[in-house]
Amino acid sequence: TWTMAGFRDMEIARIRQQVGKGRVICGLSGGVDSSVAAVLIHQAIGDQLTCIFVDPGILRAGEADEVIRTFRDRFNIHLIHRDASDLFLNALEGVSDPEIKRKTIGRLFIEVFEEEAAKLGGADFLAQGTLYPDVIESVSFTGGPSVTIKSHHNVGGLPERMKMQLVEPLRELFKDEVRELGREMDIPEAIVGRHPFPGPGLAIRIPGAITREKLALLRRVDAIFLEEIRSAGLYDAIWQAFAVLLPVRTVGVMGDGRTYDYACALRAVTSTDGMTADIYPFDMSFLNRVAGRIVNEVRGVNRVTYDITSKPPGTIEWE
Ligand code: XMP
Repeated sequence: TWTMAGFRDMEIARIRQQVGKGRVICGLSGGVDSSVAAVLIHQAIGDQLTCIFVDPGILRAGEADEVIRTFRDRFNIHLIHRDASDLFLNALEGVSDPEIKRKTIGRLFIEVFEEEAAKLGGADFLAQGTLYPDVIESVSFTGGPSVTIKSHHNVGGLPERMKMQLVEPLRELFKDEVRELGREMDIPEAIVGRHPFPGPGLAIRIPGAITREKLALLRRVDAIFLEEIRSAGLYDAIWQAFAVLLPVRTVGVMGDGRTYDYACALRAVTSTDGMTADIYPFDMSFLNRVAGRIVNEVRGVNRVTYDITSKPPGTIEWE
């Protein structure tokens, strides 16, 4: 019979056989997929693995520190941290088209990653936490054959340019199976149970051109939403929950005064693989509490909406 422990052992053997005495580098994002891939590969080949964490400046509040703490201190994985915020934010200045944002971010990840890999003297293998749905969805469709809905930044491009063989131990798994594998390897629940977070990060949750100010606002709104979800005990029932900062300002009233500030949208969906999704049916009282906190605590945001679009026809992310 098939078990996750059996799968892990088989993959470890397969990685050892594929890699031999070669050196492997792995891009770590802090998300579930790259984390599980890195720990699995580390179990297979130990210090032959080096992880490269590129901080693109479009992560959520506190995320970069958490990645570093977890992988360096807890797992003892050799980790290179490169703060590339300025590079990414400068390149994204004035860019409002979603696909150009994605492509710009994807290209920079590759460039910075290559730079760091070159500093290491290169490697023989490139590890990626590619999942089965990534493989399918970036190749084609949902609305018809050979239409790219979104260019996922984590598939393609890199291996050909860097002339490295790919190590993709999660390529046949769906997200829930990756989580199960992570638990099998004693990866902390905070990482394993984490909602998916897209490579292009907060940049695709700010329709229109992103700015540092907008990023700062979005981080605060998002943190409040997630804090409330966690304290209501709803985090694990939701596939993904996040805030979107809308490119529109609306009129509001605060105390005796008029405000003219940004509107935001909250999104929370249930799903099993990200390919289809339903909205999470919060109680109105929950949404009301979150909206109250956001408008009161985040100066610059004065209106909160809840996105009630399922996938399809909507996508999970707004861009
Ligand atoms: P969509 O918005 O296409 O998202 O319904 C489906 C799932 O994929 C995530 N997503 C990405 N993940 N790189 C990633 O690693 C990307 O470029 C990317 N774009 C979307 C999204 O968060 C959702 O879980």
